[in-house]
Amino acid sequence: MDDRMVSAQSQFDDDSVEGSLRPQYLCEYIGQEKVKQNLQVFIEAAKMREESLDHVLLYGPPGLGKTTLSTIIANEMNVQIRTTSGPAIERPGDLAAILTSLEPGDVLFIDEIHRLNRVVEEVLYPAMEDFCLDIVIGKGPTARSVRVDLPPFTLVGATTRAGLLSAPLRDRFGVLSRLEYYTIDDLAKIIMRTSEIFQVELEQSASYELARRSRGTPRIANRLLRRVRDFAQVEGNGKITQQLTEVALEKLQVDRLGLDDIDHKLLIGIIERFRGGPVGLETIAATIGEEAHTIEDVYEPYLLQIGFLQRTSRGRVVTPKAYEHFQLEVPKS
Ligand code: ADE
Repeated sequence: MDDRMVSAQSQFDDDSVEGSLRPQYLCEYIGQEKVKQNLQVFIEAAKMREESLDHVLLYGPPGLGKTTLSTIIANEMNVQIRTTSGPAIERPGDLAAILTSLEPGDVLFIDEIHRLNRVVEEVLYPAMEDFCLDIVIGKGPTARSVRVDLPPFTLVGATTRAGLLSAPLRDRFGVLSRLEYYTIDDLAKIIMRTSEIFQVELEQSASYELARRSRGTPRIANRLLRRVRDFAQVEGNGKITQQLTEVALEKLQVDRLGLDDIDHKLLIGIIERFRGGPVGLETIAATIGEEAHTIEDVYEPYLLQIGFLQRTSRGRVVTPKAYEHFQLEVPKS
């Protein structure tokens, strides 16, 4: 096996393990209390009325559990789930094929729903509103439109950027749920739950150390736990202690607040090259060699949340709090 195959395999392991880690029902899902409590009510009400659940839009930063929640919704409603994504549905016919294959009540999960193209989006409107499709047959003056009925279904849309959704699409969702960054306590609980599934011994203080460095994000928490477990296995006796966790995270270049080398490059880049800003997103992206939309979707939201970065009309500004974290002096204006 060459190196490429080894890494492809470990990637596969991580992904398949990720699947089995996911909670299947609301009662197993930790955190996001408001979203969970509301969904519980809407699911129970739909079941009592023997109707399909209204369409649900889940939005918020990546890694907070949008895909997991969509599976939970299907499980709680006792229906099947079909999963796809905005960019995967290229033509109206692709969407029609999916919609006509659904069973009554099924969940259709569309990830990255803000990336649906306009033509496909327009087919989705009558499907969501009246459970029907208007299919145009033929071209030119002889073209005619045929209405096809669909089984009632629940569309669960997920997006990191609710602001990019067109108003007509957003308005067709009956339930809009915003996922928030997790608290340290909830992340520690998630890490403890995962360690039980892995059957690995974990000190409580280690679970909190990992939680503090997971940027409010379960996906990061579970990834760090897997890597620290590797160090515990190879360089320790298998048990994940606080001390081993600290040493391992240092090697992984994850700092006390969970910031990694890209967060550092971003903040230090603005500090060193632009005296802390303001500086435009595109300029930052070019300076550190990352895509602007990756910075905007993945890195920036957490830095804004912890108050290390501010968005102003003239661009991004690094705050004194971030200077303090890096033990740097704020420049005098
Ligand atoms: N694993 C990942 N996210 C989780 C969550 N919110 N609750 C329980 N286990 C999880």
